[in-house]
Amino acid sequence: MMLRGPRRCLRVSVAPAAALAVAVLSSLSRCSLLEPEDRVVSALSPYFGTKTRYEDVNPGLPPDPEAPRRDPELLEETCTPVQLVALIRHGTRYPTAKQIRKLRQLHGLLQAGGPGDDSTRAAGGRDLSAALASWPLWYADWMDGQLVEKGRQDMRQLALRLASLFPALFSLENYGRLQLITSSKHRCVDSGAAFLQGLWQHYHPGLPPPDVADMECGPPRVNDKLMRFFDHCEKFLTEVERNATALYHVEAFKTGPEMQNILKKVAAALQVPVNNLNADLIQVAFFTCSFDLAIKGVKSPWCDVFDIDDAKVLEYLNDLKQYWKRGYGYTINSRSSCTLFQDIFQHLDKAVEQKQR
Ligand SMILES: *[C@@H]1O[C@H](CO)[C@@H](O)[C@H](O)[C@H]1NC(C)=O
Repeated sequence: MMLRGPRRCLRVSVAPAAALAVAVLSSLSRCSLLEPEDRVVSALSPYFGTKTRYEDVNPGLPPDPEAPRRDPELLEETCTPVQLVALIRHGTRYPTAKQIRKLRQLHGLLQAGGPGDDSTRAAGGRDLSAALASWPLWYADWMDGQLVEKGRQDMRQLALRLASLFPALFSLENYGRLQLITSSKHRCVDSGAAFLQGLWQHYHPGLPPPDVADMECGPPRVNDKLMRFFDHCEKFLTEVERNATALYHVEAFKTGPEMQNILKKVAAALQVPVNNLNADLIQVAFFTCSFDLAIKGVKSPWCDVFDIDDAKVLEYLNDLKQYWKRGYGYTINSRSSCTLFQDIFQHLDKAVEQKQR
Protein backbone atom coordinates (compact mmCIF):
# COMPACT_ATOMS: atom_id res chain seq x y z
CA MET A 1 0.00 0.00 0.00
CA MET A 2 1.35 3.42 -0.89
CA LEU A 3 0.21 6.83 0.20
CA ARG A 4 1.20 9.87 -1.81
CA GLY A 5 -0.10 12.46 -4.23
CA PRO A 6 -3.02 14.88 -3.86
CA ARG A 7 -6.26 13.96 -2.21
CA ARG A 8 -7.73 13.29 -5.58
CA CYS A 9 -8.43 9.87 -6.72
CA LEU A 10 -8.46 6.76 -4.74
CA ARG A 11 -7.60 3.63 -6.48
CA VAL A 12 -8.24 0.23 -5.07
CA SER A 13 -7.13 -2.62 -7.23
CA VAL A 14 -8.38 -6.04 -6.32
CA ALA A 15 -5.81 -8.57 -7.43
CA PRO A 16 -5.70 -12.33 -7.40
CA ALA A 17 -1.93 -12.46 -7.71
CA ALA A 18 -0.36 -14.41 -4.90
CA ALA A 19 3.13 -13.13 -5.59
CA LEU A 20 1.93 -9.57 -5.28
CA ALA A 21 -0.34 -9.83 -2.32
CA VAL A 22 0.66 -6.94 -0.10
CA ALA A 23 -0.25 -7.35 3.53
CA VAL A 24 -1.19 -3.81 4.36
CA LEU A 25 -2.95 -3.91 7.63
CA SER A 26 -1.07 -6.20 9.93
CA SER A 27 1.45 -3.61 11.08
CA LEU A 28 -1.21 -0.99 11.71
CA SER A 29 -3.53 -2.97 13.87
CA ARG A 30 -1.71 -4.14 16.93
CA CYS A 31 -3.52 -2.10 19.55
CA SER A 32 -6.40 -4.15 20.84
CA LEU A 33 -6.43 -7.90 20.80
CA LEU A 34 -9.23 -10.09 19.59
CA GLU A 35 -11.24 -11.38 22.53
CA PRO A 36 -10.70 -15.08 22.92
CA GLU A 37 -13.90 -16.70 21.68
CA ASP A 38 -15.07 -20.14 20.71
CA ARG A 39 -13.13 -20.18 17.50
CA VAL A 40 -12.23 -23.61 16.18
CA VAL A 41 -8.47 -23.95 15.80
CA SER A 42 -6.00 -26.56 14.62
CA ALA A 43 -2.33 -26.93 15.51
CA LEU A 44 -1.72 -27.16 11.76
CA SER A 45 -3.03 -23.62 11.09
CA PRO A 46 0.37 -21.87 10.97
CA TYR A 47 1.46 -24.15 8.08
CA PHE A 48 -1.28 -23.50 5.53
CA GLY A 49 0.64 -20.85 3.57
CA THR A 50 -1.69 -19.10 1.11
CA LYS A 51 -4.63 -21.12 2.52
CA THR A 52 -4.31 -19.60 5.99
CA ARG A 53 -7.34 -17.84 7.48
CA TYR A 54 -6.79 -14.09 7.56
CA GLU A 55 -7.52 -13.94 11.29
CA ASP A 56 -4.86 -16.59 11.92
CA VAL A 57 -2.28 -14.52 10.03
CA ASN A 58 -3.11 -11.52 12.17
CA PRO A 59 -4.31 -12.63 15.60
CA GLY A 60 -4.19 -8.97 16.75
CA LEU A 61 -7.11 -8.02 14.50
CA PRO A 62 -9.79 -6.21 16.54
CA PRO A 63 -13.25 -7.75 16.07
CA ASP A 64 -14.76 -4.35 15.28
CA PRO A 65 -13.35 -3.25 11.91
CA GLU A 66 -14.16 0.39 12.66
CA ALA A 67 -12.52 0.45 16.08
CA PRO A 68 -9.94 3.23 16.28
CA ARG A 69 -6.46 1.79 16.36
CA ARG A 70 -4.07 4.58 15.53
CA ASP A 71 -3.01 7.63 17.44
CA PRO A 72 -4.76 10.40 15.46
CA GLU A 73 -1.91 12.76 16.26
CA LEU A 74 0.71 10.43 14.89
CA LEU A 75 2.39 12.09 11.90
CA GLU A 76 -0.12 14.92 12.08
CA GLU A 77 1.01 17.79 9.85
CA THR A 78 4.23 16.07 8.85
CA CYS A 79 2.65 13.48 6.64
CA THR A 80 -0.73 13.63 4.93
CA PRO A 81 -2.12 10.68 3.08
CA VAL A 82 -3.09 11.89 -0.37
CA GLN A 83 -3.67 8.75 -2.35
CA LEU A 84 -4.11 5.14 -1.52
CA VAL A 85 -3.32 2.24 -3.81
CA ALA A 86 -4.04 -1.17 -2.41
CA LEU A 87 -3.38 -4.44 -4.13
CA ILE A 88 -5.72 -6.92 -2.49
CA ARG A 89 -6.17 -10.67 -2.82
CA HIS A 90 -9.65 -12.18 -3.03
CA GLY A 91 -11.37 -13.31 0.15
CA THR A 92 -11.75 -16.85 1.44
CA ARG A 93 -12.88 -19.16 -1.34
CA TYR A 94 -14.10 -22.69 -1.99
CA PRO A 95 -11.62 -25.31 -3.21
CA THR A 96 -11.16 -25.32 -7.00
CA ALA A 97 -12.78 -27.99 -9.18
CA LYS A 98 -9.37 -29.66 -9.49
CA GLN A 99 -8.99 -29.83 -5.71
CA ILE A 100 -12.55 -31.12 -5.31
CA ARG A 101 -11.84 -33.86 -7.87
CA LYS A 102 -8.80 -35.02 -5.91
CA LEU A 103 -10.74 -34.92 -2.69
CA ARG A 104 -13.42 -37.12 -4.22
CA GLN A 105 -10.70 -39.51 -5.37
CA LEU A 106 -9.39 -39.73 -1.77
CA HIS A 107 -12.89 -40.28 -0.48
CA GLY A 108 -13.37 -43.08 -3.00
CA LEU A 109 -10.17 -44.76 -1.78
CA LEU A 110 -11.35 -44.60 1.82
CA GLN A 111 -14.73 -46.04 1.03
CA ALA A 112 -13.25 -48.82 -1.12
CA GLY A 113 -11.05 -49.69 1.86
CA GLY A 114 -14.12 -50.58 3.91
CA PRO A 115 -13.91 -52.07 7.41
CA GLY A 116 -11.31 -54.59 6.14
CA ASP A 117 -9.18 -57.12 7.99
CA ASP A 118 -8.85 -55.90 11.55
CA SER A 119 -6.06 -58.27 12.51
CA THR A 120 -3.54 -56.37 10.37
CA ARG A 121 -4.64 -52.89 11.36
CA ALA A 122 -3.92 -50.64 14.28
CA ALA A 123 -7.00 -49.60 16.24
CA GLY A 124 -6.12 -45.88 16.04
CA GLY A 125 -5.84 -46.05 12.28
CA ARG A 126 -9.17 -47.86 12.06
CA ASP A 127 -10.92 -45.13 14.05
CA LEU A 128 -9.42 -42.36 11.96
CA SER A 129 -10.12 -44.01 8.61
CA ALA A 130 -13.72 -44.68 9.69
CA ALA A 131 -14.10 -41.05 10.78
CA LEU A 132 -12.70 -39.87 7.44
CA ALA A 133 -14.89 -42.22 5.40
CA SER A 134 -18.02 -40.97 7.14
CA TRP A 135 -16.96 -37.30 7.11
CA PRO A 136 -19.24 -35.56 4.58
CA LEU A 137 -17.70 -34.34 1.36
CA TRP A 138 -19.58 -31.10 1.10
CA TYR A 139 -17.74 -29.59 -1.81
CA ALA A 140 -19.41 -29.83 -5.23
CA ASP A 141 -18.03 -29.03 -8.69
CA TRP A 142 -20.05 -25.83 -9.13
CA MET A 143 -18.20 -24.27 -6.16
CA ASP A 144 -15.00 -24.21 -8.24
CA GLY A 145 -12.95 -21.63 -6.37
CA GLN A 146 -15.87 -19.23 -5.82
CA LEU A 147 -15.88 -16.70 -3.03
CA VAL A 148 -17.67 -17.96 0.12
CA GLU A 149 -19.73 -15.84 2.53
CA LYS A 150 -16.75 -15.67 4.89
CA GLY A 151 -14.79 -14.25 1.95
CA ARG A 152 -17.38 -11.51 1.41
CA GLN A 153 -17.10 -10.68 5.08
CA ASP A 154 -13.27 -10.56 4.79
CA MET A 155 -13.66 -7.93 2.06
CA ARG A 156 -16.38 -5.85 3.75
CA GLN A 157 -14.32 -5.66 6.91
CA LEU A 158 -11.15 -4.79 5.02
CA ALA A 159 -13.00 -1.89 3.37
CA LEU A 160 -14.29 -0.67 6.74
CA ARG A 161 -10.80 -0.91 8.26
CA LEU A 162 -9.21 1.07 5.45
CA ALA A 163 -11.96 3.68 5.57
CA SER A 164 -11.61 4.19 9.31
CA LEU A 165 -7.80 4.24 9.14
CA PHE A 166 -7.80 6.95 6.46
CA PRO A 167 -10.90 9.05 7.17
CA ALA A 168 -9.65 12.01 5.11
CA LEU A 169 -9.11 9.87 2.02
CA PHE A 170 -12.42 8.08 2.43
CA SER A 171 -14.44 11.27 2.82
CA LEU A 172 -17.90 11.30 1.26
CA GLU A 173 -16.57 13.86 -1.22
CA ASN A 174 -13.98 11.34 -2.46
CA TYR A 175 -16.40 8.43 -2.70
CA GLY A 176 -17.07 9.03 -6.39
CA ARG A 177 -13.31 9.08 -7.13
CA LEU A 178 -12.72 5.57 -5.98
CA GLN A 179 -11.65 3.19 -8.72
CA LEU A 180 -11.72 -0.52 -8.35
CA ILE A 181 -9.99 -2.78 -10.84
CA THR A 182 -10.32 -6.53 -10.76
CA SER A 183 -9.35 -9.61 -12.71
CA SER A 184 -12.12 -11.51 -14.48
CA LYS A 185 -12.03 -14.42 -11.99
CA HIS A 186 -15.47 -14.64 -10.39
CA ARG A 187 -13.97 -14.75 -6.87
CA CYS A 188 -12.16 -11.48 -7.60
CA VAL A 189 -15.16 -9.72 -9.18
CA ASP A 190 -17.24 -10.85 -6.18
CA SER A 191 -14.52 -9.69 -3.76
CA GLY A 192 -14.60 -6.25 -5.38
CA ALA A 193 -18.38 -6.07 -5.03
CA ALA A 194 -18.20 -7.13 -1.37
CA PHE A 195 -15.49 -4.51 -0.75
CA LEU A 196 -17.78 -1.81 -2.18
CA GLN A 197 -20.66 -3.06 -0.06
CA GLY A 198 -18.45 -2.69 3.00
CA LEU A 199 -17.65 0.89 1.97
CA TRP A 200 -21.35 1.55 1.46
CA GLN A 201 -21.87 0.60 5.11
CA HIS A 202 -19.22 3.17 6.01
CA TYR A 203 -20.94 5.97 4.09
CA HIS A 204 -24.55 4.98 4.70
CA PRO A 205 -24.70 3.10 8.01
CA GLY A 206 -27.86 1.07 8.36
CA LEU A 207 -28.93 1.37 4.73
CA PRO A 208 -28.93 -1.81 2.63
CA PRO A 209 -26.33 -1.50 -0.16
CA PRO A 210 -27.71 -1.18 -3.72
CA ASP A 211 -26.35 -3.09 -6.69
CA VAL A 212 -22.68 -2.12 -7.24
CA ALA A 213 -23.65 -0.73 -10.66
CA ASP A 214 -25.74 1.91 -8.87
CA MET A 215 -23.04 3.09 -6.47
CA GLU A 216 -21.41 6.52 -6.80
CA CYS A 217 -17.99 5.02 -7.53
CA GLY A 218 -19.19 2.61 -10.21
CA PRO A 219 -18.70 -1.17 -10.31
CA PRO A 220 -15.28 -2.89 -10.32
CA ARG A 221 -13.72 -2.76 -13.78
CA VAL A 222 -12.23 -5.94 -15.20
CA ASN A 223 -8.68 -5.65 -16.53
CA ASP A 224 -6.84 -8.94 -16.91
CA LYS A 225 -3.85 -7.37 -18.66
CA LEU A 226 -3.11 -5.60 -15.37
CA MET A 227 -4.46 -8.01 -12.78
CA ARG A 228 -3.57 -11.32 -14.43
CA PHE A 229 -0.34 -10.07 -15.97
CA PHE A 230 1.14 -13.58 -15.79
CA ASP A 231 -1.46 -14.80 -18.31
CA HIS A 232 -0.37 -12.08 -20.73
CA CYS A 233 3.38 -12.50 -20.54
CA GLU A 234 4.54 -14.68 -23.44
CA LYS A 235 7.99 -15.33 -21.95
CA PHE A 236 6.52 -16.44 -18.63
CA LEU A 237 3.98 -18.72 -20.37
CA THR A 238 6.64 -20.38 -22.53
CA GLU A 239 9.44 -20.67 -20.00
CA VAL A 240 7.48 -21.41 -16.84
CA GLU A 241 3.71 -21.95 -17.05
CA ARG A 242 3.65 -24.29 -20.06
CA ASN A 243 7.12 -25.70 -19.46
CA ALA A 244 6.92 -29.26 -18.15
CA THR A 245 10.42 -29.11 -16.62
CA ALA A 246 10.27 -25.63 -15.04
CA LEU A 247 9.13 -27.02 -11.69
CA TYR A 248 11.56 -29.96 -11.58
CA HIS A 249 12.64 -29.14 -8.01
CA VAL A 250 9.00 -29.39 -6.94
CA GLU A 251 8.62 -32.75 -8.70
CA ALA A 252 11.82 -33.99 -7.06
CA PHE A 253 10.55 -33.00 -3.62
CA LYS A 254 7.21 -34.72 -4.26
CA THR A 255 8.99 -38.03 -4.71
CA GLY A 256 11.78 -37.37 -2.20
CA PRO A 257 12.31 -39.04 1.20
CA GLU A 258 10.36 -36.45 3.25
CA MET A 259 7.22 -36.95 1.16
CA GLN A 260 7.70 -40.73 1.03
CA ASN A 261 7.65 -40.75 4.81
CA ILE A 262 4.32 -38.93 4.89
CA LEU A 263 2.85 -41.12 2.15
CA LYS A 264 3.65 -44.23 4.20
CA LYS A 265 2.25 -42.71 7.38
CA VAL A 266 -0.96 -41.51 5.75
CA ALA A 267 -1.44 -44.81 3.92
CA ALA A 268 -1.28 -46.58 7.28
CA ALA A 269 -3.65 -44.09 8.93
CA LEU A 270 -6.16 -44.28 6.08
CA GLN A 271 -5.63 -48.01 5.64
CA VAL A 272 -5.14 -47.77 1.90
CA PRO A 273 -2.26 -49.08 -0.23
CA VAL A 274 0.59 -46.54 -0.38
CA ASN A 275 0.67 -46.88 -4.19
CA ASN A 276 -2.83 -45.41 -4.39
CA LEU A 277 -1.59 -42.17 -2.81
CA ASN A 278 0.63 -39.41 -4.16
CA ALA A 279 1.89 -36.01 -3.03
CA ASP A 280 -0.96 -34.14 -4.75
CA LEU A 281 -3.62 -36.16 -2.94
CA ILE A 282 -1.82 -35.68 0.37
CA GLN A 283 -1.62 -31.95 -0.20
CA VAL A 284 -5.33 -31.71 -0.93
CA ALA A 285 -6.09 -33.71 2.23
CA PHE A 286 -3.96 -31.25 4.20
CA PHE A 287 -5.75 -28.24 2.68
CA THR A 288 -9.11 -29.85 3.43
CA CYS A 289 -8.36 -29.32 7.11
CA SER A 290 -7.87 -25.63 6.33
CA PHE A 291 -10.90 -25.32 4.02
CA ASP A 292 -13.19 -26.92 6.62
CA LEU A 293 -11.83 -24.53 9.26
CA ALA A 294 -12.09 -21.41 7.12
CA ILE A 295 -15.35 -22.12 5.31
CA LYS A 296 -17.33 -24.28 7.74
CA GLY A 297 -15.69 -23.30 11.03
CA VAL A 298 -15.28 -26.98 11.90
CA LYS A 299 -12.27 -29.14 12.63
CA SER A 300 -12.42 -32.08 10.27
CA PRO A 301 -10.76 -35.45 10.94
CA TRP A 302 -8.38 -34.55 8.11
CA CYS A 303 -6.64 -32.28 10.63
CA ASP A 304 -5.82 -35.40 12.69
CA VAL A 305 -4.10 -37.14 9.81
CA PHE A 306 -1.03 -34.91 10.05
CA ASP A 307 1.33 -33.91 12.84
CA ILE A 308 3.44 -30.76 13.01
CA ASP A 309 6.43 -32.37 11.27
CA ASP A 310 4.21 -33.44 8.37
CA ALA A 311 2.72 -29.94 8.27
CA LYS A 312 6.22 -28.45 7.94
CA VAL A 313 7.00 -30.71 4.99
CA LEU A 314 3.70 -29.87 3.27
CA GLU A 315 4.18 -26.17 3.95
CA TYR A 316 7.60 -26.44 2.34
CA LEU A 317 6.14 -28.21 -0.69
CA ASN A 318 3.69 -25.35 -1.25
CA ASP A 319 6.40 -22.72 -0.67
CA LEU A 320 8.70 -24.49 -3.12
CA LYS A 321 6.01 -24.50 -5.81
CA GLN A 322 5.24 -20.81 -5.31
CA TYR A 323 8.98 -20.00 -5.27
CA TRP A 324 9.47 -21.48 -8.76
CA LYS A 325 6.12 -20.49 -10.23
CA ARG A 326 5.50 -17.03 -8.76
CA GLY A 327 8.52 -16.03 -6.71
CA TYR A 328 12.27 -15.64 -7.09
CA GLY A 329 12.92 -18.95 -8.87
CA TYR A 330 12.88 -17.42 -12.35
CA THR A 331 13.51 -13.74 -13.06
CA ILE A 332 10.58 -13.56 -15.47
CA ASN A 333 8.15 -14.41 -12.63
CA SER A 334 8.56 -11.00 -11.01
CA ARG A 335 9.27 -9.16 -14.25
CA SER A 336 5.91 -10.25 -15.62
CA SER A 337 4.34 -7.89 -13.06
CA CYS A 338 6.11 -4.79 -14.46
CA THR A 339 3.04 -3.57 -16.39
CA LEU A 340 1.00 -3.56 -13.18
CA PHE A 341 3.69 -1.76 -11.21
CA GLN A 342 4.26 0.74 -13.98
CA ASP A 343 0.54 1.49 -13.90
CA ILE A 344 0.59 1.95 -10.10
CA PHE A 345 3.62 4.25 -10.17
CA GLN A 346 2.21 6.31 -13.01
CA HIS A 347 -0.89 6.95 -10.92
CA LEU A 348 1.20 7.90 -7.91
CA ASP A 349 3.37 10.23 -10.00
CA LYS A 350 0.25 11.85 -11.41
CA ALA A 351 -1.14 12.33 -7.91
CA VAL A 352 2.09 14.03 -6.78
CA GLU A 353 2.13 16.23 -9.85
CA GLN A 354 -1.44 17.37 -9.29
CA LYS A 355 -0.69 18.04 -5.64
CA GLN A 356 2.25 20.30 -6.53
CA ARG A 357 0.29 22.35 -8.99
C1 LIG B 1 12.01 -25.00 -19.31
O1 LIG B 1 12.64 -24.94 -18.05
C2 LIG B 1 13.95 -25.44 -18.02
C3 LIG B 1 14.39 -25.34 -16.55
O2 LIG B 1 14.37 -24.03 -16.08
C4 LIG B 1 14.84 -24.62 -18.94
O3 LIG B 1 16.15 -25.13 -18.93
C5 LIG B 1 14.27 -24.64 -20.36
O4 LIG B 1 15.01 -23.76 -21.17
C6 LIG B 1 12.81 -24.20 -20.33
N1 LIG B 1 12.21 -24.36 -21.65
C7 LIG B 1 11.76 -23.34 -22.37
C8 LIG B 1 11.06 -23.68 -23.64
O5 LIG B 1 11.90 -22.18 -22.02
